[in-house]
Amino acid sequence: MKPISTLPVSFLQSLHCSHCGTPDSAFVLQHTSRCCQAPLVADYDLTEPVSKEIINQQEHSMWRYAALLPLLNQAHRASLGEGLTPLLTLPHLAAQYGFASLLLKDEGQNPTGSFKARGLSMAVSKALELGVKGCIIPTAGNAGVALAAYCARAGLSATVVMPRHTPAAFREECYWYGADVELVDGLISDCGAWVRQLNAQGALLDISTLKEPYRLEGKKTMGYEIAEQLEWRLPEVLLYPAGGGTGLIGIWKAFQEMKKIGWLAPEVPLPRMVAVQAANCCPLVETYEGRQASCQGYQGRPTLANGLAVPHPLGEALMLQVLHESNGTVVSIQEEEMLTGMRELGRREGLFVAPEGAAVWMAARHLLATGWLRADEQVLLLNTGNGQKYLENVAGRAHH
Ligand SMILES: Cc1ncc(COP(=O)(O)O)c(C=O)c1O
Ligand SMILES: [Zn+2]
Repeated sequence: MKPISTLPVSFLQSLHCSHCGTPDSAFVLQHTSRCCQAPLVADYDLTEPVSKEIINQQEHSMWRYAALLPLLNQAHRASLGEGLTPLLTLPHLAAQYGFASLLLKDEGQNPTGSFKARGLSMAVSKALELGVKGCIIPTAGNAGVALAAYCARAGLSATVVMPRHTPAAFREECYWYGADVELVDGLISDCGAWVRQLNAQGALLDISTLKEPYRLEGKKTMGYEIAEQLEWRLPEVLLYPAGGGTGLIGIWKAFQEMKKIGWLAPEVPLPRMVAVQAANCCPLVETYEGRQASCQGYQGRPTLANGLAVPHPLGEALMLQVLHESNGTVVSIQEEEMLTGMRELGRREGLFVAPEGAAVWMAARHLLATGWLRADEQVLLLNTGNGQKYLENVAGRAHH
């Protein structure tokens, strides 16, 4: 093991194409891979074990793992205190439904109210480090708000392109951070097409999910935190609301990295990973269950869980790989069920969660009812957002 004093600020080493494995430089501005136009993934020099002492215990944010993150000069860090969110127990719902151990990581407590803060803090910090002046993003809502906030913090311009039907709170918050907001009829895929048109000259960095390599690195910190918060063991099942899939892919990447550097002992089993989608837009379910070869031609509809309305995720293959490698599964949840989940988490546990988080809870109930999940297994739910920005769509529905 290397002595702490000789450790670099970041172990970042290179990038590789997630499709064919071709390596590329991590030290210049990159988008998708040149060989396959697939997502690029960051690699670190993890050939030797790494002491847990590199975790900066003074740092109460995701930046406590800075050595395993890609920022080279911490002066470029755009941070609002993202990460290190609480891992809560859900004692009342666990007792009611018969779960031995039910945990919820509450990402709604992040700056700007969602887990998107992690990815955008990381991506904007790297954009600043690599000399970018402005960023553009297609978004279902939360990622746009986070981009706007972190660009304000970093002194970069932000252009946010979101569906016109997104609740007003999302675009209003973007305005307060000084971002340009474009509204588009359709889903995030239509926003993506508009981004490509607006940014045809490439003047702005396109921060679309997995079209640059660093949002993923921010998201992976959820995996590091889960392991640290559970004292270096992991739950048996982890449920995540998958849209573009960076969280699912990032958490799994974190688990692999921790195995490599010895923070997770070889005998510690990895969780079965569950991707939860909205029945209104569930391309992954359709592909996973063999009803389509890929998400390419999938037609999605809007859902209360805006973040899950992603009909053509670029990371589909990577998400499927996580589900296969982990012996996981996919579940889709109806709109009414999300409201039921929001009511249950609100009334029984005091949590006002995003519909995405409520979908995850309802998926756990389904999997217990079907026997896929055993009552004695430890189950961890990721609530990815705060319910407040969705109020416009759920107002008046707190009672049946
Ligand atoms: C609250 C919330 N949950 C989940 C997601 C889906 O996240 P990912 O694209 O990482 O799968 C989003 C994305 O917009 C979101 O806003
Ligand atoms: Zn390739």
